[in-house]
Amino acid sequence: MIHRNDPGHFDVTSGAWRHWDEDGAVPASCSTCHSADGLPFLVAHDVQIEQEIASGMKCTTCHVAEDDFGILVREEVPFPSGAVLSFTTDGDNLCATCHQGRASGMTVDRRIGDIDDDMISDALGFINVHYAPSAATIMGGDAMGGYEYAGMTYVGTWGHDDYDNAASCTSCHSAHSGTVNVSGNCADCHDVSTVEDIRSLREYSGDYDGDGVESGTYYEIANLKDMLYEAMQTYSRDVIGTMVMYDSHAYPYFFADPDGDGVSDGRYATWTPRLLRAAYNYQYASKDYGGYVHNGQYVIQLLHDSLADLGADVSAMDRPDDPF
Ligand code: HEC
Ligand code: HEC
Ligand code: HEC
Ligand code: HEC
Ligand code: HEC
Repeated sequence: MIHRNDPGHFDVTSGAWRHWDEDGAVPASCSTCHSADGLPFLVAHDVQIEQEIASGMKCTTCHVAEDDFGILVREEVPFPSGAVLSFTTDGDNLCATCHQGRASGMTVDRRIGDIDDDMISDALGFINVHYAPSAATIMGGDAMGGYEYAGMTYVGTWGHDDYDNAASCTSCHSAHSGTVNVSGNCADCHDVSTVEDIRSLREYSGDYDGDGVESGTYYEIANLKDMLYEAMQTYSRDVIGTMVMYDSHAYPYFFADPDGDGVSDGRYATWTPRLLRAAYNYQYASKDYGGYVHNGQYVIQLLHDSLADLGADVSAMDRPDDPF
């Protein structure tokens, strides 16, 4: 039962709090989510400034000491796409303020401008959605956090069948430790007792990865991601002429691998719009670690459409067009 480190929100050792140690302060562009005082400052003033480096959150990052320890009032949340949305409770809206990512499909479109789909351009460069954009995933096509292809339709907010006790962040997670009470909540309706069991859940039908087996949504998404990576490598090798490789632990994630030996030759510099869109969705699906449970159908749609856009054969893969 003994944990060496506190849970993420209070983990003084983690990169999410230590990244700015050499800088002396947390700049305005990071401080809403990575300092103890940034969130209340944003809520009070609707603008952000540099904040002191923090050793993790304080209780007053989310609670108001002077107001009977209530939750900071946050009635609605602007997302990177410009959408303004609400989970209807202040607490969940605070979660969504930090767990929304830092980019959207619109950011990608703005960078692409009118460059042709397969044209290599210096004006392009990888756009990173950032980490744990869970709220954007739950709100799917309403938040537009993924790259949504023209002419395709996307699911909106996943309401978990209108179940009040499992559709918002704090109905599934503890606000403090982040843990999910699987046997005390999910087990009311699903035959699950661990997070591993949740990964095997399947309530919507479809053979998304086209392998002939309808496995748990988590595993279908993992296969789709592998296929998308392979399609990105094939496309970059055959159409662009320089193969791309991905390293989830090294900034800026996408590197050139011209001889295909799996060893990086430096950052990837020969982007086309088509590769950029796929890479954005690949990273999106990788960085919401709970994407399959936050809104699996939305993540599947994004990956499916990126595969199709790269010219992969998706004829055996079911796309969930209107699942809810
Ligand atoms: C002020 C910004 C902020 C708010 C508000 C916030 N989070 Fe986080 N959350 C973070 C950051 C930053 C991390 C990563 C911390 C780390 O890696 O040490 C994180 C990590 C997490 C994790 C992973 C936990 C772990 O131990 O690795 C979960 C789950 C989570 N948050 C859920 C929530 C929920 C639910 C809410 C709303 C009650 C919420 N967060 C509100 C910024 C925030
Ligand atoms: C909208 C909120 C938000 C903003 C703004 C934001 N981040 Fe984050 N960042 C997060 C969350 C949430 C996580 C935690 C993800 C997780 O649980 O692993 C995170 C994680 C990180 C991590 C830890 C990554 C790791 O591998 O553990 C670093 C470093 C980081 N962010 C850097 C930055 C920098 C630099 C900026 C400003 C330029 C910034 N962030 C702005 C929300 C944000
Ligand atoms: C990330 C935001 C956040 C931080 C930081 C935070 N809380 Fe909370 N807290 C919440 C939310 C949201 C609720 C509402 C409970 C719910 O809906 O799950 C809550 C509820 C509570 C409650 C009511 C009982 C319960 O557990 O539901 C207590 C007591 C509490 N918090 C104490 C603290 C203390 C003490 C700290 C500092 C050590 C702290 N909180 C830090 C978000 C936060
Ligand atoms: C239906 C229940 C449910 C809802 C609603 C939900 N989550 Fe999750 N979330 C989970 C589960 C279960 C996992 C663990 C997935 C796994 O590891 O396979 C998870 C994973 C995460 C992670 C990654 C944790 C880690 O250790 O890396 C973060 C961060 C997170 N959720 C934040 C949120 C936020 C913020 C919200 C609201 C916007 C939210 N979640 C809503 C069930 C839920
Ligand atoms: C009150 C009943 C109820 C509770 C409690 C509940 N669920 Fe569900 N869940 C459902 C129903 C019904 C569906 C299918 C319809 C839908 O998704 O809206 C579903 C669907 C799901 C799916 C989608 C499966 C797929 O095919 O991809 C996941 C994942 C899930 N639930 C996880 C959870 C987790 C995690 C918890 C606990 C935090 C939980 N559920 C609690 C009723 C519930």
